[in-house]
Amino acid sequence: MFPATQPPASALRPTRAEVSLEALGYNLSTIRGLLNGQKIYAVVKADAYGHGAVPVARHLAQNGVDAFAVALVEEGVELRESGIEHEILVLNGAYARTHREILQYRLTPVVSDLSDLAVFQKLSRGRPIGIHLKVDTGMSRLGLPFCSLPDFLHELERCDAIRMNGLMTHLARADDDPETTAEQLRLFEHALRLVSERGHQPLTIHAANSPGTIRHPEAHYSAVRVGLALYGLKPAPTEVPLRPIMRWRSEIISLRLLAEDTGVGYCHSFKTSRQTRLATLPIGYGDGLMRALSNRGFVLVRGRRCPIIGNISMDLTTVDVTDVKGCQLGDEAVIFGEQEGQSLSVDEVASWAGTINYEIVTSISKRVPRFYLEKWEAHG
Ligand SMILES: Cc1ncc(COP(=O)(O)O)c(C=O)c1O
Repeated sequence: MFPATQPPASALRPTRAEVSLEALGYNLSTIRGLLNGQKIYAVVKADAYGHGAVPVARHLAQNGVDAFAVALVEEGVELRESGIEHEILVLNGAYARTHREILQYRLTPVVSDLSDLAVFQKLSRGRPIGIHLKVDTGMSRLGLPFCSLPDFLHELERCDAIRMNGLMTHLARADDDPETTAEQLRLFEHALRLVSERGHQPLTIHAANSPGTIRHPEAHYSAVRVGLALYGLKPAPTEVPLRPIMRWRSEIISLRLLAEDTGVGYCHSFKTSRQTRLATLPIGYGDGLMRALSNRGFVLVRGRRCPIIGNISMDLTTVDVTDVKGCQLGDEAVIFGEQEGQSLSVDEVASWAGTINYEIVTSISKRVPRFYLEKWEAHG
């Protein structure tokens, strides 16, 4: 059992993110239900997509997840230091010369560069080191170019301490283009054949992220790497039942009545066209509420959608509550999540801001305390 993680008592502000651990567990079992016993790497990079890496990883560990994946060595170290004993795969590898820390913290490196082999071999001192080889099959970002595979295998065979425990690739268009995915998988299977003809037997073979896991069972191989879906967000429309696990809320700290034709906020980017009741919320782009939502987004107050008017500033946001009956100081304002039977989704917020759901949640900044709930409380 891990100790409960909650914000410190100094987390006084009413702007906070609430994370439902129950919904997280539910999403994990939903994903498990799509698989045939394959191993699940829970992707908890970028602070578990803004949800809090340590509490999320601890809950997933308690609920039987198989392993974790992070982008950075530092993220792996944070998990180890918090008591996570599961395998931790470092997706972005050992760049910036972090080979020593990878070994010290028992992290599993993703390798896609010949030069890493020599460094690991040198540091091994006779101890075996397991790596996952990443082959680029069409993402064109990280990964060993397919044409370099024979040379890589040749070098690997000279490094007696290094074992290829995993072979992986990453899908570029699993959410929107089955043909590109099929092409990537053809190349990946070609790589698999080459690898096994040369006598390597990677046990963990993986390609699928959330959209790959949901839409492409043929990409499940022996493991999947799932991030977004665990957080209850969808990479593309799907029938798979997932529950959002975060609710982002604030409160009204100031209310005023503005006459028609009054400018609001910096640059007066909004002018009232009627007598307007304006509410001010203690949340701004310094908290990750994107400025792009100025004069475009909405929040919920007493179950009603209220437009964000004026420019969002670093710490404050102004909304039009003229049509909210009985609106008072201290009323809750929901940025996304449920309130009084109504809801705003992360996807809606993303579309207003001209971005994707991944960016909305990972942008919520450190100064927003995260509260972990076993169950959603009734709101309203
Ligand atoms: C290599 C790799 N695998 C898996 C994932 C998880 O993707 P998703 O959040 O779509 O599940 C990511 C995320 O960007 C990634 O970079």
